[in-house]
Amino acid sequence: MEPMAAFRSQFECRNDDVFLASFPKTGTTWLKALCHTILHRHDQEEEEDILTKKNPHQVVPTLRVQHLLLSPRRRLMHTHLPYSYLPEEVTRSPAAAAGCRKLVYLARNPKDTVVSMWHFYNQVHKGSAGPLSVERAVESFCSGVMPWGPFYEHVLGYWEESKKRPDEVLFLKYEELCGEPKEQVRKLASFLGRSFPSTTDGSGGGDDDEVEKVLWRSSFGRLKELEVNKYGAVGEQGLHLSHTIYFRKGTVGDWKNYLTSDMARCIDQVTQNKLLGTGLSLDDFL
Ligand code: A3P
Repeated sequence: MEPMAAFRSQFECRNDDVFLASFPKTGTTWLKALCHTILHRHDQEEEEDILTKKNPHQVVPTLRVQHLLLSPRRRLMHTHLPYSYLPEEVTRSPAAAAGCRKLVYLARNPKDTVVSMWHFYNQVHKGSAGPLSVERAVESFCSGVMPWGPFYEHVLGYWEESKKRPDEVLFLKYEELCGEPKEQVRKLASFLGRSFPSTTDGSGGGDDDEVEKVLWRSSFGRLKELEVNKYGAVGEQGLHLSHTIYFRKGTVGDWKNYLTSDMARCIDQVTQNKLLGTGLSLDDFL
């Protein structure tokens, strides 16, 4: 049996599993740090601070059969697979309805995704292949010929599912996480069944402090400066990727520094065509 087919048929879900999904370079590292922190914020201090000892990609493993079988606690795992490639166990609704199994998808503005991917590619292949030009990166993105692509089908697969099963599939946007972090983190925590306690004195303190702590623990500024993320590497797809490579700029709109107006227009055009009639639009990512 092909490895993918074997994986899809052998994966066994638990009712309280949490799956994270994203297209590469859309904020996976952030989502992993946030969800881990939300779920374990009341554990022992050393548990909470595991992000000071391990890179988020080591803390939240990729969805694979072997790694996960023995995990004794609520499992949090991630995949870049498109929705249609997920194991049936994950997408089958009756089993999901039996428990509090959850799937969180993070989407990002396509232009920032292209720019982030382009930087990432050139870092990974530094010294081996010649640098990839930004023109080529935009061309492959728009044509859908890229690892884990096409981008739009990836986003829409999860988007459609989140509309059908809103209690089980949450669709988040990187730009909204940046723009209104507290609201988004509250929404995420409540979706995961780990809501922040509401304050009774109306002071806005209490739960606000807890939300801020989660955001701080997962923040770009903090993670980038942690020693653990300055050294070491994680293995992915046979590659060893340095921890530093996951923390570049962490902002919205960096595409303006790299894409010409023609390139931006070209991506916007493809985005509009692909999202037409889906309920998602370009404006959702501004
Ligand atoms: P940029 O290249 O635009 O800076 P992924 O984790 O899916 O590989 O995505 C990487 C992108 O997320 C990079 O974007 C990276 O800087 C950004 N990122 C990583 N950690 C982040 C965090 N804690 N908060 C916000 N953005 C983060």
